Amino acid sequence: MTDDPSTTRSGDAITRLDRRRILVTGAAQGLGEAIAARIVDLGGRVLIGDVLVAPGEATAERLGPAAGFVELDVTSPEGWDRAVRVADDELGGLDGLVNNAAILHLGLLEDMAPERLARLIEVNLVGPALGIRAVTPVLRSGGGGSIVNISSIAGLEGMNSTVAYSASKWGLRGLTRSSAIELGRDRIRVNTVCPGMGNPEMFTPFIGDFDLPLYLEKAPQVPYQEQGRPRNVDMHDVTEMVVWLLSDAARGCSGADFAVDAAWTAGKLAPGVPGFGR
Ligand SMILES: NC(=O)c1ccc[n+]([C@@H]2O[C@H](COP(=O)([O-])OP(=O)(O)OC[C@H]3O[C@@H](n4cnc5c(N)ncnc54)[C@H](O)[C@@H]3O)[C@@H](O)[C@H]2O)c1
Repeated sequence: MTDDPSTTRSGDAITRLDRRRILVTGAAQGLGEAIAARIVDLGGRVLIGDVLVAPGEATAERLGPAAGFVELDVTSPEGWDRAVRVADDELGGLDGLVNNAAILHLGLLEDMAPERLARLIEVNLVGPALGIRAVTPVLRSGGGGSIVNISSIAGLEGMNSTVAYSASKWGLRGLTRSSAIELGRDRIRVNTVCPGMGNPEMFTPFIGDFDLPLYLEKAPQVPYQEQGRPRNVDMHDVTEMVVWLLSDAARGCSGADFAVDAAWTAGKLAPGVPGFGR
């Protein structure tokens, strides 16, 4: 029988995050907040980094003494340095990073102002790269760690009106693979999670002419079973994958993409051949 709560009797790792110190970006609200809460549930400690100061502090307060907040704009190298210093001062180091912060602008590429395009790539792709760069020394000196980059189904397939977002989310998968190779010898694992749509609040501020109710009604995920899909995903499904990747249970996984999209990007039931319309 083992005394270590993160292993089974046979010594295999299970999803526990006892004493793990994780920085989660964009965790003032939405998916990031749900990830932070789950890390705390599993015995870990979390540092929330976000541009939203009052909501970020309120989230940390709600999560209790195992959570803290640092103001962080992921596009700022100095901001990352400060976040790592705060992690050092308040948590004594870091064991992981979740690059979750992102922005979304829906719209045709030809209508998108160059500044908006550049800002989206800066927040969604350059930001996570700066984050990996900033936490690498502290993870390395602690003997290793786990980094999870939150991409999207838009990082696995294309869609009209998401060109810039999609480019940033595909880019994250390249960032994951290359940094996993660079950091493997330091026992730092890097993986990507590609969630399906589970939090409509992210795109409501940016929908413009986009008809969200129509989209949700007509999009191929409805009805799920007729598309060969078991269900749609919610934030809980995504958080479980993220905490698993942060834990030692995922020690065999690095440099990989994990879709949590209930087969959205797996393919489609083909009409006219056996299995369709059953
Ligand atoms: N909403 C969905 O259905 C969905 C689907 C697939 C993937 N995702 C991905 O999940 C992640 C979280 O999305 P969400 O739905 O919770 O979004 P959200 O808009 O609710 O939350 C994003 C958070 O990031 C923060 N943020 C934005 N810019 C920042 C910056 N420069 N520096 C630091 N923080 C910044 C925001 O303040 C906010 O707290 C994103 O990476 C998103 O691309 C979301």
